[in-house]
Amino acid sequence: MSNTILVGAQWGDEGKGKIIDVLTEQADVVVRTQGGNNAGHTVYLGPKKYVLHLIPSGILRKNKLCVIGNGVVIDPVGLVSEIEGLKKLNVKVGKNLVVSETAHIVLPYHRELDAQREVLKGKNKIGTTKRGIGPAYGDKAARVGIRMIDLINPARFEEKLKLRIKENNEVLKALGAKPLSFKKVLAEYRAAGDYLKPYVANTVVLLHQATRRGDTILFEGAQGTFLDIDHGTYPYVTSSNTTSGGACTGSGVAPNRMDEVVGVMKAYTTRVGEGPLPTENAEISDLLHGMGREFGATTGRARRCGWFDSVATRHATMVNGIDKLAITNLDGLDTVATIKVCVAYRHGKDHFDFVPNDAQLLAECEPVYVEFDGWLTPTDKAKTWKELPPKARAYAKAIAELTGAELFIASVGPAREQTIFV
Ligand code: IMP
Repeated sequence: MSNTILVGAQWGDEGKGKIIDVLTEQADVVVRTQGGNNAGHTVYLGPKKYVLHLIPSGILRKNKLCVIGNGVVIDPVGLVSEIEGLKKLNVKVGKNLVVSETAHIVLPYHRELDAQREVLKGKNKIGTTKRGIGPAYGDKAARVGIRMIDLINPARFEEKLKLRIKENNEVLKALGAKPLSFKKVLAEYRAAGDYLKPYVANTVVLLHQATRRGDTILFEGAQGTFLDIDHGTYPYVTSSNTTSGGACTGSGVAPNRMDEVVGVMKAYTTRVGEGPLPTENAEISDLLHGMGREFGATTGRARRCGWFDSVATRHATMVNGIDKLAITNLDGLDTVATIKVCVAYRHGKDHFDFVPNDAQLLAECEPVYVEFDGWLTPTDKAKTWKELPPKARAYAKAIAELTGAELFIASVGPAREQTIFV
């Protein structure tokens, strides 16, 4: 394996955690480059379930260096509890985890502002995870953010925090929310800073050294293409670049050091939160929820579900430069007699074969479907491509072809063993 960027080709929750875990076997270094603890990557090892929010899932394997890059926004208190949680599960976390000193931190006022802005938006709310992600990236762009390098310097942190709390308390009061106690936040974050200090380093230099050594690096994307701040269904997006370019800016590894892009997509479509989802369908939502599937790993919210949307995934191939595809949750369609796939959008007299930028217009688009025969056979025990029912293979191949990239993994369940290399 060479240096690989892994991205979600839909609206997040594509099952990236599992695919990252499988690919990590061949990587030396695993890097998170954007997002924060709004993400939830679920990995099953035997009977044990691990949900990671900030730490790359490479942590679950021995001798992998895991890096939280500069493009991530870190809730330090959340990171401490994630490390502690892993340690309780006997996962080693020490020198194998390095955190960028220039990553920005999420503070309680970010979370509070996130919640308050959602209330203000009323029926136009985004449906955020309320983890303070938008306001934290907002502060970064406005150049008033606080970074890990500040957090681990007590005097500097205190000075910066005092100013930021003063300003944000005024805003919170104006919104009718409770102001924050500087002392309380300082104490909590100082403790987290002390705890995290040994993990903090210049990760740009460290990753440069790794590439010079010839180490193999896996860049694990969080969220999905259509939640990208530039290329997603704005404003119903997250606040980072979830597409492949974000892996470069979020790590400091240059584009010409990257070798390939892997796109992960479900055999159908899901989305959490508000915003357009052209193929949304009650029948498939009920079916999947009835099977106990498609509830968010971070917030527990029921995901909205729909048919596979090849207009969206083809668009994702274009924006990310996807070379290879991993299709997950193929087994989710095991009981569906007729499977629909969206191949174009219709809007009045217009047809689209790409995702229009206007979220309002996208919400009004009617999907144009083609139909596939379901295989009506359980696939979760299949270990090889040949063991999959012919109709399941035909479906997987067709959606990969429509997406415009080479199919290399079909996943039929959460376990490592339920991964079929095509
Ligand atoms: P935020 O990132 O919390 O600001 O949320 C913005 C939008 O992105 C909302 O629709 C969230 O539901 C969605 N979102 C954020 N993180 C994830 C994720 O990890 N998976 C799926 N959706 C996400």
